[in-house]
Amino acid sequence: MNLGKYEIIQQKAGFHSIRDTSSGEIMHSVTEPMTESIELYVKQLNLEKELMSPSDAELVIWDVGLGAATNAMATILECEKIRISNGAVRPLHIVSFENDLDSFRLAILNPSLFPHVRHKAPVSILENAHWLSDDGLCRWTLLEGDFQTHVGSAPAPDCIYYDMYSLATNEWLWSSRLFSQIIDLCVSKKPKLITYSVSTQIRSALLAAGFYVGYGVGTGPKTETTIAFNSLDAISEGVKLLGPEWLAKWERSTAKTSKSIDDVEREEIERRVREHRQFVAR
Ligand SMILES: C[S@@+](CC[C@H](N)C(=O)[O-])C[C@H]1O[C@@H](n2cnc3c(N)ncnc32)[C@H](O)[C@@H]1O
Repeated sequence: MNLGKYEIIQQKAGFHSIRDTSSGEIMHSVTEPMTESIELYVKQLNLEKELMSPSDAELVIWDVGLGAATNAMATILECEKIRISNGAVRPLHIVSFENDLDSFRLAILNPSLFPHVRHKAPVSILENAHWLSDDGLCRWTLLEGDFQTHVGSAPAPDCIYYDMYSLATNEWLWSSRLFSQIIDLCVSKKPKLITYSVSTQIRSALLAAGFYVGYGVGTGPKTETTIAFNSLDAISEGVKLLGPEWLAKWERSTAKTSKSIDDVEREEIERRVREHRQFVAR
């Protein structure tokens, strides 16, 4: 079944994914979508610990690239389990960004293939761009349109699920300039930014923007992903930061930075990576 530029495909392992036919990008292509969302995003955020925190400030998650809402719904479903088992009462607010809702609509039209949409929340988000749980402790907001246009109006995040299409499809969304804008919007918080990508260019852009960048968990056949923090004291326990081994590999790489930036910007990004406290202070 198709909707707009999206189609549903069945993977060899049996699960279904949504493919953007214009770019060829597939959402959650290598691992069963809910499993990947939980392993990569929900567990690395440490949702249970965050919700159990005595703070009554909302835990704000930016869901960058709503897509079929797998990451958002994985978070909501896990949150519901945690509230039942632990009585956690810290409020949760998921803010999703999306500029094309057709993949979400396609998932909603096919609940047997995407069971995570069998919940009141997705339809409410589609109709009202907002959902509030019956206990009032979990809310979900959709900011429809271009991420960069809306990012300034979102509440500062405690965690960013950065699940955008790859560099090949939209380099700007992985640029040092955009990551700098994100880091500036987060000064009042200590967020972690989690992404599936292991690209050298993307890690370099995060470092140049000022993030401390570490090795994220592997999921499925991937042995690692990327997790980034805006300050040294924000780094999660157990995370290994990229070290001299990565920097040496980066120095040898022909893809240190984007090919589409000018020499001045390239030199500035390379200087910031080499002089990053993450490498100097170790
Ligand atoms: C990899 S998919 C996200 C998958 C999703 N997180 C999930 O769990 O199903 C990336 C999504 O980002 C959206 N996107 C791409 N460029 C965007 C932009 N500039 N602003 C907002 N959303 C964008 C795409 O339409 C697509 O739905």
